[in-house]
Amino acid sequence: MSPHAMPLETTRHHLEDLLLAPGTGATPIQLVGSDEDLAAVPGRERRWVEARGWKPTAGAVLLVPDEAGGIAKVLFGTGGADWGQQTPMLTGALPGAIPAGDYEFSGALPDPDLAALGFLNGCYRFNRYKSSANEEAKCIVLPEGADRDRILAMAEGVYLGRNLINTPANDLGPAELEAVARDVANTFGATIKVTEGTSLLSDNFPLIHAVGRASDRAPRLIDMHWGAESAPKVTIVGKGICFDTGGLNLKPGNAMSLMKKDMGGAAAALAFAVMAMRTKLPIRLRVIVPAADNSVAGNAFRPGDVLPSRNGMTVEIGNTDAEGRLVLADALSLADEEQPDYLVTFATLTGAARVALGPDLPPFYATDDDFADAMLKAAHAVGDPVWRMPFWAPYDKLLKSSIADVNHISDGPFAGSVTAALFLKRFVKKAARYAHLDIYGWVPREQPGKPRGGEPNGARALFEYFSGDRNA
Ligand code: BES
Ligand code: MN
Ligand code: ZN
Repeated sequence: MSPHAMPLETTRHHLEDLLLAPGTGATPIQLVGSDEDLAAVPGRERRWVEARGWKPTAGAVLLVPDEAGGIAKVLFGTGGADWGQQTPMLTGALPGAIPAGDYEFSGALPDPDLAALGFLNGCYRFNRYKSSANEEAKCIVLPEGADRDRILAMAEGVYLGRNLINTPANDLGPAELEAVARDVANTFGATIKVTEGTSLLSDNFPLIHAVGRASDRAPRLIDMHWGAESAPKVTIVGKGICFDTGGLNLKPGNAMSLMKKDMGGAAAALAFAVMAMRTKLPIRLRVIVPAADNSVAGNAFRPGDVLPSRNGMTVEIGNTDAEGRLVLADALSLADEEQPDYLVTFATLTGAARVALGPDLPPFYATDDDFADAMLKAAHAVGDPVWRMPFWAPYDKLLKSSIADVNHISDGPFAGSVTAALFLKRFVKKAARYAHLDIYGWVPREQPGKPRGGEPNGARALFEYFSGDRNA
């Protein structure tokens, strides 16, 4: 693989070709925060602004013609001087509003890395299945003071995550997810081990096997290691349900239609891994992905079944559609065995998370307050927000089972994201810190830098947390 080519590449361009070296002749993009900023625009251009009735609201774009009828410059409204804090990904609105060509930010940027990243993220298109997608590239000159490798690492992670989520389940089953993980591991010299099919039983991953056994695509546990053993141990577990029918508790059609994205946690975990390994973060990284289809067949697991789990706890199945927490339970038990310093799950775990906070703001649960505070700050700073929710211990009793050690769901309608998080936490005993992100993995309505479709929520936030002292 070339340095910045991703598995499942779908854009027609290599990311590194979109980021031009300084000194390239390019159309300037001038940032305009207010009407006062507009006053500084030369008279001829200002008349054009007035003729068009253009206002520098956040994300507004105006092409200014030159004498020859070409584009002299691009005016880009930021909505205010503090746009870097409010909407760090705002520059992602540019690619959708300008023609193909080479561009360059003129003037100071609040965060040069994020300004360039927003642009690259806004260039993303998923056209794997378009026979004629022949878009010419929109390129941006590396801003002054920006870190090219860091920008490309973040963009590559995001693109990979989006590609994985956007790829439909017929082309992305557990085996294909494994192949991509292997590709990533090979690119960065990580080691990878995969336990597949009935080996899940002999190697003691009974819940992963139970959830995945009804599919003719064998379930598996993907386990990747990278980095110096002496570095802090950071283990990421990503939910890799390649398609979630709900199982015997079958989802109605409208609830099932987007369930190719139920491996969004795995996508976010791999996105983070690419960012971490590409920039050589000083961590010992482990990525664990339980990959399976939640399918319907005669051998499917059933509501009311009592299943063993890796750590010995017996689990009563309340609803086969709560499959994510089951595969994660065995993966978390494995992760916990080596007492990592950080253990983090990414998972499209509950519909309730969306009821609570909507699609753009994933609930973030953490056992450690310092970690949580720093993570929230990092997430906000890079425009990949998360919101803290509690591992609310009093709700733990909602998971009581009359015949097994635990029921994996609450029998009531309340606090669905919290009770799912509490179920996961039961399988974490030794990790120094545990955090869980209940992500949506999808952008329903386009936003700057976030085209409609798959999105590995939280990956950039966690990456910013672990590379945080760059700003200290
Ligand atoms: N993958 C779903 C959760 C989901 C649904 C995430 C829609 C994002 C959008 C998960 O496996 C699931 O079905 N959860 C159930 C749990 C319930 C049966 C306790 C849910 O949230 O309805
Ligand atoms: Mn489900
Ligand atoms: Zn699911």
